[in-house]
Amino acid sequence: MSATRCDRTPAWAALHGHFEAHGRSLDLREAFARDPGRAASLTFEAPEIVVDLSKNLIDIAGLHFLLDLARDCGLEGARDAMLAGDPVNLTEGRAVLHTALRAPRGEGLFSDEVHGVLDAMLACAERVRDTAASGIRHVVNIGIGGSDLGPQMVVPALDAYAQRGLTLHFVSNVDGHDITRVLRTLRPAETLFIVASKTFTTQETMANAEAARAWFLAQGGQDVARHFVACTTNVAAAAKFGIQTTFGFWDWVGGRYSLWSAIGLPIAIAIGADHFRALLAGAHAMDRHFATAPLPHNLPVLLGLLDVWYRNFHGYASRSVAPYHQGLARLPAYLQQLEMESNGKGVDLAGEPLPYGTSPVVWGEAGTNGQHAYFQMLHQGTDVIPVEFIAVKTPAHALVDQHRKLLANCLAQSQALMLGKTRDQAQAERAPTASAALDPAVLASHRSFPGNRPSSTFVLDALTPRSLGALIALYEHRVFVAGHVWGLNPYDQWGVELGKALASGLLPRFETGDTAGLDGSTAALLTRLSA
Ligand code: F6P
Repeated sequence: MSATRCDRTPAWAALHGHFEAHGRSLDLREAFARDPGRAASLTFEAPEIVVDLSKNLIDIAGLHFLLDLARDCGLEGARDAMLAGDPVNLTEGRAVLHTALRAPRGEGLFSDEVHGVLDAMLACAERVRDTAASGIRHVVNIGIGGSDLGPQMVVPALDAYAQRGLTLHFVSNVDGHDITRVLRTLRPAETLFIVASKTFTTQETMANAEAARAWFLAQGGQDVARHFVACTTNVAAAAKFGIQTTFGFWDWVGGRYSLWSAIGLPIAIAIGADHFRALLAGAHAMDRHFATAPLPHNLPVLLGLLDVWYRNFHGYASRSVAPYHQGLARLPAYLQQLEMESNGKGVDLAGEPLPYGTSPVVWGEAGTNGQHAYFQMLHQGTDVIPVEFIAVKTPAHALVDQHRKLLANCLAQSQALMLGKTRDQAQAERAPTASAALDPAVLASHRSFPGNRPSSTFVLDALTPRSLGALIALYEHRVFVAGHVWGLNPYDQWGVELGKALASGLLPRFETGDTAGLDGSTAALLTRLSA
């Protein structure tokens, strides 16, 4: 595989030239007026998803330069190497094979192992779902990061498919308020605890698992073995904890890419084996698209390249995600880990500091709630923040009018960001709540919108297990594309280590009060918090 860092390619220089000549000054309103075919030529299809990229600050020529960049960086070779199981996670010497978890039986790498665990995990889920026989009414997933955010996002997203009479809870924070809030509502005989941890060493998860077991026994719970299961690569540690039923996975599954593995058990319990398999099938369809679609039509490639364009040419440091579906309310949090833990890196594969920006800040909120919170800043603030709208055509409820209102708002926001409002337009209007004492020209300045603010709109026909699987896989591959172009390793997370180590060092000081050797600020805070 020959990979070249983006800034060392001919295409990088060409892109800079194109940005200065055409990119910086591109006006979306003029672009649409000039080219009636713009929406069609910048709308792309992948399994289950259509994405309109036409409201982005890019033209066809710019897109071609970006595709040259992907080729110059050796993107296709790197993709193929990852899919073939090469150890592309260089700093940990590991393969990256979450795609193998959703390959049909007999087709992917490690198929026997993957489908062996999948069958066992889904059989367990079905036994739990048979609530008359299992007696289980509440399932508590104890995990954090990649062992929490995926299931925590997917379970409400697929609520329409969920088994009634079974409630899923998610406990992640080492803050005891988290588990206390959940345990208050439970009875041991009706509760199943899933201890989910790739490493089975994570402080938060171990603390919560201990607390859950202590609560279970203190409340007169019988048969720990029947009420605790584990999902982990560290089967030995789970056994040592006293858990007899363990669903394993492998070091080639990154934590933030693990919802397709045994970590998906809470999802399988909520929606059942067939729907879980549909989730995998949707992701697999996107994997095939990523592996085979020509680059100019390859949606993860286009999205990853657009991320590079905004970050490194326009200089935009954040991207907002606005799913217009309440079920996807946790998608932004999920994407924060997926994108920022993957591409929030400052050195290339050779350990050289990167001279350009990498992962943007990813953030957002479900629409229309976000409109009544931070959209003000998106429309009139001093920073340009590309927005990603996700619209779902068919709802899972019967409130047709409300759904139309939701979709109208979604389209209106991307329209407003792009169109803006001139001072003249603002001055020609009469705003009922505006002060009559103010100079109309001053008022018009406050009430005008710059417009030309970029957005993408993702369209799903319905939010189903299959389409959600495809959507998540689309994001996963897009992260790989941007990370590869940036020349970094998206699959390690050394940046979380330092804080973990320092916390372990500080912990005993809360008992002793010892502040020797600490900086003045930390010493004073420790004294204040432990006194
Ligand atoms: O926050 C760091 C991290 O290692 C994540 O990458 C991971 O998803 C999370 O902690 C949880 O780790 P584990 O599944 O091993 O408990």
